[in-house]
Amino acid sequence: MAFPELRMRRLRRTDALRALVRETTLEPNDLIYPLFLCPGTGIRREVSSMPGVFNLSVDEAVREAEEAAQLGVGGLLLFGLPESKDETGSGAWEENGIVQQGLRALRQSSAAQKLVLIADVCLCEYTSHGHCGVVVQVRDGSGRDGFEVDNDPSLALLAKTAVSLAKAGADVVAPSDMMDGRVAAIRAALDREGLTQTPILSYASKFASAFYGPFREAADSAPQFGDRRSYQMDGANLREAMREIDLDLAEGADMILMKPAMPYLDVVRAARERVGVPIGAYQVSGEYSMLHAAFQKGWLDPTRAMMESLVGIRRAGADFIVTYFAKDAAKLLA
Ligand code: PBG
Repeated sequence: MAFPELRMRRLRRTDALRALVRETTLEPNDLIYPLFLCPGTGIRREVSSMPGVFNLSVDEAVREAEEAAQLGVGGLLLFGLPESKDETGSGAWEENGIVQQGLRALRQSSAAQKLVLIADVCLCEYTSHGHCGVVVQVRDGSGRDGFEVDNDPSLALLAKTAVSLAKAGADVVAPSDMMDGRVAAIRAALDREGLTQTPILSYASKFASAFYGPFREAADSAPQFGDRRSYQMDGANLREAMREIDLDLAEGADMILMKPAMPYLDVVRAARERVGVPIGAYQVSGEYSMLHAAFQKGWLDPTRAMMESLVGIRRAGADFIVTYFAKDAAKLLA
């Protein structure tokens, strides 16, 4: 059959028809809401490059979580701004670290019953140099002397952090550092501590991206020298992303996260076709800020552009989406 017998527009005539043939769904439950916890009480400090996103003291974060739970949001992804930073990022695994405090407080609230509490595992918010692992000086006479993020010594610190966060009440730990071997190190450490039921959501393919810029203001985690290109992936590489995914799964990742989302939807699709594990995609800070900048100028319709960006990520193959729009989108979907 072809035109004029066949007419594609027949199924687009009414809202009800369009809903009936809609291929991709989006539910509040699919959305994970990132929160940035900071010391103090009663603090709600807006991130200048991310309208509607705040650094929250623990008490305010609990209120925010309760609102998110009410709206049916699926879970939270927790980041921390510690009281102080040091060379190794010891604030990340402190018994009374900022995210650990937040997890315990959230566990006390009824909101936690409904939300999956995911703790980001990384050192960059906690190190004075802002890198995601231990920094060492290299003087090997190769002529390339300088500072380097040292992979292997970073693993024990990341593992310790994951254990500490799981003990404080994280349902899921999510390593975002991109060190080699960290998933295996974290799995072994969790199991050693009897935390055999804590799943690992690994940021399996995380690209070195300009779109993390606003996050580094939100989390105060900008590298103080150099950049992250020696550990995060080159944005040009799809096959390498598949290798990262295979390795993380072989090391014991239960779910994988792809990041950023919009400039890498082909990677999400390729991952979806390759593996059976649940896949999340992270609509990162720059994607959010970019849309908001256009909203402020009146150049894009906020509601429609937001929903289209989220449905696109689901259509690419993501089961769930980490997004700063989680509450806004959940309100619309209610
Ligand atoms: C920490 C981390 C980053 C993001 C999530 N975890 C920043 C980075 O790698 O520099 C970015 C999230 C966002 O931009 O919203 N390693």
